[in-house]
Amino acid sequence: MKISVIGCGYLGAVHAASMAELGHDVVGIDIDEAKIAALSEGRAPFFEPGLPEILQSALASGRLTFSTDFAAVGGATVHFVAVGTPQKPGEYAADLTYVNAAVDALVPHLKDGDLVVGKSTVPVGTAAALSARIYANNQTASLAWNPEFLREGFAVKDTISPDRLVYGVPAGETGERASALLDEVYAAALQNDTPRVVTDFATAELVKVAANAFLATKISFINAMAEIAEVSGADVTSLADAIGYDARIGRRFLNAGVGFGGGCLPKDIRAFSARAEELGRGESVAFLKEVDAINLRRRQRVVDLVKEELGGQVYKKKVAVLGLAFKPDSDDIRDSPALDVAVQLHGLGAEVVATDPEAIENSRKRHPQLLFTDNIDTAVNRADAIVVLTEWKQFRELDPVALAEKVDNPLIIDGRNCLDPGRWRTAGWTYRGMGRP
Ligand code: UDX
Repeated sequence: MKISVIGCGYLGAVHAASMAELGHDVVGIDIDEAKIAALSEGRAPFFEPGLPEILQSALASGRLTFSTDFAAVGGATVHFVAVGTPQKPGEYAADLTYVNAAVDALVPHLKDGDLVVGKSTVPVGTAAALSARIYANNQTASLAWNPEFLREGFAVKDTISPDRLVYGVPAGETGERASALLDEVYAAALQNDTPRVVTDFATAELVKVAANAFLATKISFINAMAEIAEVSGADVTSLADAIGYDARIGRRFLNAGVGFGGGCLPKDIRAFSARAEELGRGESVAFLKEVDAINLRRRQRVVDLVKEELGGQVYKKKVAVLGLAFKPDSDDIRDSPALDVAVQLHGLGAEVVATDPEAIENSRKRHPQLLFTDNIDTAVNRADAIVVLTEWKQFRELDPVALAEKVDNPLIIDGRNCLDPGRWRTAGWTYRGMGRP
C-alpha cells in the first residue's frame, strides 16, 4: 500500500516506520522541520525502544520518506492522521486545532477513492464532522476512524502486533471499501488472527476513550485502596496480588504508587468528561473527576511522606529524585507525576537533585530551575532522602547496602512500590512505600 502519515510525534513516527517495516511505501509529514530532518537521517526525535532500528532499516529500504510538504502525500491512497489532541489550556476539553488543520491541509491533495484514517484520540462526534468536510471537497474520498492503543515503551511492538484492530467506518459500500483498504494495510496482523471490530464512527471514537478511562479508573481504584491501607495498616501490594488472582479483576494496572501521567490517560479522561457534559450526560462519567482527584492526591502524598520523615519540613534538605519520566522506558514528561513531585519539593525549599536515564533533557527544558545529573551516585551523594518516582530497572536494582554509604540519612520513599522493603530495612534504611506499612 502507498500510505501517508500526517503528524510524526510519538504516534505518527512509530506508525510510519512500522508500516514501512511491514512492506508498505510510506511518507511521513510534519510541519516541524527539525523533527523531519532528524527522522530523515534515521534519528528518532524521542526515546522509544526499537524505533531507531526500524527507522533506519525502513529508510535504507527506500520505502520510508519524510517531508514537511503536504504535496508529498499525493502518491498515497491511505492517509493516516496521527496528530496530537492536547488538553486546551485552562479547560478540560481536547484541542482539535491540529486535527482540523491536518485534514484541511490534506483535503486539496486527495485523489478519487483515497481513504483518510483518523488515529488521533478525539471527542466522539469528531469523525462525523470531518467526514462531511472531506465529502464537501471530494465525493469519492472517504474517512475511517482507527484508534490506536499503543503504549509508550512498547510502541513498535504494539503497532506491528496490536492486540485488536478497530475500524469505525460509514455504512454501506463506502464503509466496505474502507474496511477492505484497512485490511490490506493490516494484512500481517490479520494473518496472525488479530481480533478486528468493524463498527461506526461514534463507537470507534468511544472505544479509545472508554479503554483509557477504564485503565485510569483501575489505577485510581488501587490508589484509593492505598489511601485506606495507609490509615488501617494494610498492605496494598498484597491486596492487589490477592484480588488480582480473580481473573475477572486481573493483576495488571493494579500497581499503586504516585499515579498515572503521560500524554494520554490524564487528558483523555478530562476530555471525556468535557464531551459528556456537552452531550448532556456529564453525570455518566462524573466518577472520572474522582479518578483524576485520587490520582493527583498521590503526588501530594509523596511530598507529605518526605516532609513527615524529615521532621516536618524539607527546607534546605537534599532530596535525590530518581525518575522524571511518566513511566520507565520513555523520555516523556507530559503530566509526569515524578516531575511534578520534584517541582513541588523544590518549591518547598528542598535542594532537589534529579536523575533519569532518558528524561533529563525534556525535564530541563520545562523546569530549568531544578538541578539534574545523569549520575545516580551524584544524585544520592549526601542526600537526606531518596525518592523513587519512576520504576526504571536501574533504580529497582539499586543495592541498598552500597547506597547507605553514600547518603547522609538512609531514608527511601518508594513512590512506585518497586523496591523490596525487607531488603532496604535490613540494610539500615527507613523505607516508606505507598499504601504499605
Ligand atoms: C496509555 C494506554 O495504556 C494505551 O493503550 C493508550 O494507547 C495510550 O495511553 P501510555 O500512556 O503509554 O499508554 O502508558 P501506560 O502504560 O498506560 O501507563 C500510564 C500511566 O499509568 C503511567 O504513568 C504509569 O506509571 C501509570 N500506571 C500504570 C500506574 O500507576 N499503575 C499501574 O498499575 C499501571
